[in-house]
Amino acid sequence: MSDDFFPVPAVWAKNALLDLEGRAADYKRSIEDGHAYWLERAKRLDWITPPTKTDESSFEEADFGVQWFADGELNVSANCIDRHLATRGDQVAILWEPDSPEEEPRRYTYRQVHEEVCRFANVLKGAGAKKGDRITVYMPMIPEAAFALLACARIGAIHSVVFGGFSPEALAGRIIDCDSNIVITADEGRRAGRKVPLKANVDAALDECTSVKQVIVVKATGGQVAMKDGRDLWLHEEAARVPADCPPERMNAEDPLFILYTSGSTGKPKGVLHTSGGYLLWAALTHELCFDYRPGDIWWCAADIGWVTGHSYIVYGPLANGATTLMYEGVPHWPTPSRIWEVVDRHQVHTIFTAPTALRALMREGDEFVTRTSRQSLRLLGTVGEPINPEAWRWYHHVVGEDRCPIIDTWWQTETGAAMIAPMPGATDLKPGSATLPLPGVVPQIVDGEGQVLHGAAEGNLVIAQSWPGQMRTVWGDHARFFQTYFTTFPGKYTTGDGARRDADGYYWITGRVDDVINVSGHRMGTAEVESALVLHESVAEAAVVGFPHDIKGQGIYAYVTLNAHDEPSEELRKALTAWVRTEIGPIATPDVIQFAPGLPKTRSGKIMRRILRKIAEGEVSPQALGDTSTLADPSVVEHLVANRAG
Ligand code: WTA
Repeated sequence: MSDDFFPVPAVWAKNALLDLEGRAADYKRSIEDGHAYWLERAKRLDWITPPTKTDESSFEEADFGVQWFADGELNVSANCIDRHLATRGDQVAILWEPDSPEEEPRRYTYRQVHEEVCRFANVLKGAGAKKGDRITVYMPMIPEAAFALLACARIGAIHSVVFGGFSPEALAGRIIDCDSNIVITADEGRRAGRKVPLKANVDAALDECTSVKQVIVVKATGGQVAMKDGRDLWLHEEAARVPADCPPERMNAEDPLFILYTSGSTGKPKGVLHTSGGYLLWAALTHELCFDYRPGDIWWCAADIGWVTGHSYIVYGPLANGATTLMYEGVPHWPTPSRIWEVVDRHQVHTIFTAPTALRALMREGDEFVTRTSRQSLRLLGTVGEPINPEAWRWYHHVVGEDRCPIIDTWWQTETGAAMIAPMPGATDLKPGSATLPLPGVVPQIVDGEGQVLHGAAEGNLVIAQSWPGQMRTVWGDHARFFQTYFTTFPGKYTTGDGARRDADGYYWITGRVDDVINVSGHRMGTAEVESALVLHESVAEAAVVGFPHDIKGQGIYAYVTLNAHDEPSEELRKALTAWVRTEIGPIATPDVIQFAPGLPKTRSGKIMRRILRKIAEGEVSPQALGDTSTLADPSVVEHLVANRAG
């Protein structure tokens, strides 16, 4: 916890969209007069049929469902493109910075984006895509990735983006789960000068998926790839053959916009479903309020389009607001740790939005990589994805922003669509490490283990008491799992899976996940997923995975592995298991530590005591830290684990 306090800077107090009183009054209205408030807020979108309904959600089992603006009709791509053509057709919409600084950036005006997206949409139609189809997008960070999303939205197809760092296995699982008929990919991706074989990965994934009829391939690097006759099409060849206009499909506010798979504490990743009206409103409104977005600002969200942050804050929020959104192909520290600040200078970026893990890695490289750049264009600094430690917060504020730029620490989740608890630069005094206060319509509560609502300063489980427009609508193909996962732990409330503390000023401090999800470099990872991957290996009998504190990544992955009777622990096997997890899931799931364990601590009923495994991984091995082990089936297991601690 930090006692520092950063009041709203004078220039922001005078000029922001909302000031301290304005924010409080706006919030009060959003709660007390929600229906009128949201009808008014909804006017920021361009509706084909404006809604007369707002929130019709219920978190109770009997009439369970999440629904907003249900009689409204709109098209998301028309909101992100067409409606800007008259006023800002020649303004840059997408500003693309390539992996290597030696290459030239690419710029697309709103008019050009319109043509690219229309052609892409017509190519999809030609490939057989219809409203409601699921289209899997497995792309590098190139403008065509954004065009792909908008083209799906234009024709009413549901996109499911799979992060380009996931393995063919992981990709196949996601294609099968939502039964995609089309995959959009590129020949190769590039990151830090290295090539990523995206098309080859798709080919490998499709060996297992029969639903996919067509693969649309973007020529990105020009690398050699195999094209399967009748199945694979080059985007540029097809796009040249189709009309440059494609009328947007009329969509109901509750028609699905996208599925995005995310990790939970149990089972396979869940397909989080978002719909059209409420999601777009939430992405656009929060982008404007949290970042005080003004026309002309150059906005840079340095996330990957494979995560929700990329969906909401590279594509949908900024484009709905008519912004210039920067899309960066590469990584923050390549070719040098100055790279992201050089990009800021090159494009005169006003706001950068990144993750604490990137900041911690850059901080370690030393201030001179920052201070040798200008950064005078910066006015706001955003962060998301994991709790930001006060040290990184202060470094971001002082070294990067030269004490001039408020830090906008936004707490939210794939499930929430966009930011939920966050500062507004003119309206919120800051405390390093706190995401501060709820956004309009968001009713956070802290509850204890029994679900009792705690008032005033308190610590416990973070729940949200009522629906908000950007809330996920279901788990794709499994509505019962949606209810079960989020609304049964604390009945009648949305369970976030995060712990939080509220201080005497009403500020929220997220303390991290309270379930078996870990947050590695700002990426969500279910420990169960890594365990399932490990036990698929022929030598592994059992595995238990926990998180442990990691200086740069926030959390690292610690795997306890019990081998089959005929297998011996060895350095070679450790390496093989590490490589195995990378192929099963992807490099982001690489275990940092593998400890061979002849036995795991279990209760007499066979339940693994993860609390003990977490303590050992954290290096807390005193009897006090480990607590009562007498209920274990075999307490000597713990001694063995402690004596052979790895890492
Ligand atoms: C964590 C990313 C603290 C949290 C947008 C949440 C945060 C999970 C913050 C969701 C923050 C995200 N402070 N923790 N500002 N932002 N988290 O679905 O544990 O990839 O539940 O969405 O990240 O991760 P997801």
